[in-house]
Amino acid sequence: MKLRTQVLPSVFVLGAALIVLSYSARAQDKPAAAASTFKPVLKIDVMMNGQKKLFGEIKAAIVDEKMKEGESFAWLLAEIANVNHYQNDSSAYREFADQMSRQCVQLAELMGKGDAKLAKEQFSQIGRTCGACHDQFAKKK
Ligand code: HEC
Repeated sequence: MKLRTQVLPSVFVLGAALIVLSYSARAQDKPAAAASTFKPVLKIDVMMNGQKKLFGEIKAAIVDEKMKEGESFAWLLAEIANVNHYQNDSSAYREFADQMSRQCVQLAELMGKGDAKLAKEQFSQIGRTCGACHDQFAKKK
């Protein structure tokens, strides 16, 4: 009798908790599903010309030693590369875009620390990633 009054309610509470947990786990799958259908608002050529402009601003900031200014352009370029991921379904394309985004985050951090020498090297590495993706994916005109 005692067993029934004490154990059964806790089994019931545990069961209810598991149902709530599994429901909330399923609810959390939703944002991921939504992200996979994310569509950039920029057409790719406009996005690329924006990348080129930001890349040029970063170069000028390194040359002029305006590291704080360059840092914010590097963050912006990191975010555009992050969105560029969604311009193409190919995993190779997405890896180039992700790599460029990570490299731009590192560049922003270097510029934030005022490290002009390492920022210059990092800038060149990013240029190589632009080139590698173009070799594989940009149509020759
Ligand atoms: C993940 C792939 C990828 C990366 C990384 C990438 N691009 Fe591109 N880029 C492309 C593709 C694809 C095109 C061709 C777009 C088209 O069809 O018009 C292109 C074209 C361009 C163009 C020509 C745009 C036009 O008017 O047609 C410029 C400029 C450009 N990219 C700049 C850059 C710069 C600068 C970087 C690096 C900072 C970069 N891109 C990195 C994929 C990439």
